[in-house]
Amino acid sequence: MASQSAVPSRADIGVIGLGVMGSNLALNIEDHGFRVALWNLTHASVTRLIEDSDANRQFVGTRTLEEFAAVLDRPRRILLMIKAGAPVNEMLEKLAPLLAPDDVIVDGGNSLFTDTQRREVFLRASGVRFIGMGVSGGEEGARNGPSLMPGGDRTAYNHLRPILESIAAKTDSGPCVTYVGPDGAGHFVKTVHNGIEYGVMQLIAEAYDLLRRGLGLSAAQTSAIFANWNGGPLASYLIEIAAQVLSVRDPETGNPLVEMILDQAGQKGTGKWTAQAALDLGVPVPTIAAAIDARVLSSMKAERVHASQLLVSDATARMAGDTDELARSIRDALGAAIACTYAQGFALLRAASAEYDWDVDMREIARIWKGGCIIRARLLDPIIQAFGRAPDLANLLLDADFRPEVLAGEAALRLTIGTAVEHGIPVPGLSATLGYFDSYRSAVLPQNLTQAQRDLFGAHTYQRIDRPDAGFVHTDWPGLIASAATGGKS
Ligand code: 6PG
Repeated sequence: MASQSAVPSRADIGVIGLGVMGSNLALNIEDHGFRVALWNLTHASVTRLIEDSDANRQFVGTRTLEEFAAVLDRPRRILLMIKAGAPVNEMLEKLAPLLAPDDVIVDGGNSLFTDTQRREVFLRASGVRFIGMGVSGGEEGARNGPSLMPGGDRTAYNHLRPILESIAAKTDSGPCVTYVGPDGAGHFVKTVHNGIEYGVMQLIAEAYDLLRRGLGLSAAQTSAIFANWNGGPLASYLIEIAAQVLSVRDPETGNPLVEMILDQAGQKGTGKWTAQAALDLGVPVPTIAAAIDARVLSSMKAERVHASQLLVSDATARMAGDTDELARSIRDALGAAIACTYAQGFALLRAASAEYDWDVDMREIARIWKGGCIIRARLLDPIIQAFGRAPDLANLLLDADFRPEVLAGEAALRLTIGTAVEHGIPVPGLSATLGYFDSYRSAVLPQNLTQAQRDLFGAHTYQRIDRPDAGFVHTDWPGLIASAATGGKS
């Protein structure tokens, strides 16, 4: 723990990588009475953080990794806040020879979970324990309380626990950190978090488009509507910041700033990883997939502008009807779709947990997402309750108390999508969500025809509904087709 002397010579934990996230986490950790060793590729960032901080801060600046390792109390605790990918591999290779068995390295970047699995195995050979930790909440969260999703060696988690619990966001359900599971579980949970983030952001963007272009409301009016929605069941960080962003004016032009921003969404890849993992695990996440496609389509600006001159439609974006009523319908549609997005994310997490033997506690994940992270939302309370009642729940849509979150907005979802389609306003997220909902609630789907076609062209076989015990059977389709063509007279 921190002594009262000015500059300590030893540290409780070390942070490597002093970008905004690393610096803010270092400050947050030190705020809670821990002595923090600092190292950065360019030493100037270490000097700057120390110089910009209060002189009483318990920071130990170091110039070399050897010095960094030497000042840490043992077993060492090291937090990497560096760019995901090759830089993490390189850092682990440099650090491993400087460390001793039982030391703990935490990768707090947005790493691919399979990289984390591989790195844990690599470090295990030297007895160094590894934690892959999802960190959410952006700069503000890192500084004042993020949501933390650590996975890896459980004993290593226990060693880190006092620090992580003290720096994490706090809600009425406790600190937003828990041991998620072994090897890549922490980074996988963060990946699913980001997939849900993509889905919800796309749905919010569609609601904004319907309000702005469809109903002809101003940015200020849409801001007021989002602020109002944030006071009800939709209450969440992403709705709150949508309201805030829409209220800001561009100091240069006086226009709403959002309208001066080019409509091309970027992405760093975590959303894509969610969809890739979902495809690998055979779990449908159509809202998330639609959100990724929507970002990709948005980035094709020049092509879209060209197409807009060629593919002219009679549909006009402007909707007729009672504005308040349509806005309420958009709100309820959004609520239902957001609930379905969380349902998809949790279903994916459940499948991964089963596949990799992680034994992830879904209730705990919902609990640690209640504060600090980007997808914090009031909706997480019914999710916590649902997994509290049924830890192994296959899909949130099956829970008696969560179901109404979707059913209450079902009619509005249909109405909103129908109106959007009629007016040519793209709603890929909302539509994909309704398709998911309708498919999931259908006892009968048309894939009997798909099976028949597969059997016809590839002898892939199919199962019969009247003889489930018969297993997979094949039909001589050409013979039966010829017979059908002749009305059975061959
Ligand atoms: C968080 C965010 C964060 C994410 C950025 C950018 O939880 O704090 O998810 O980790 O990396 O929001 O993501 P994209 O560039 O992919 O949109």
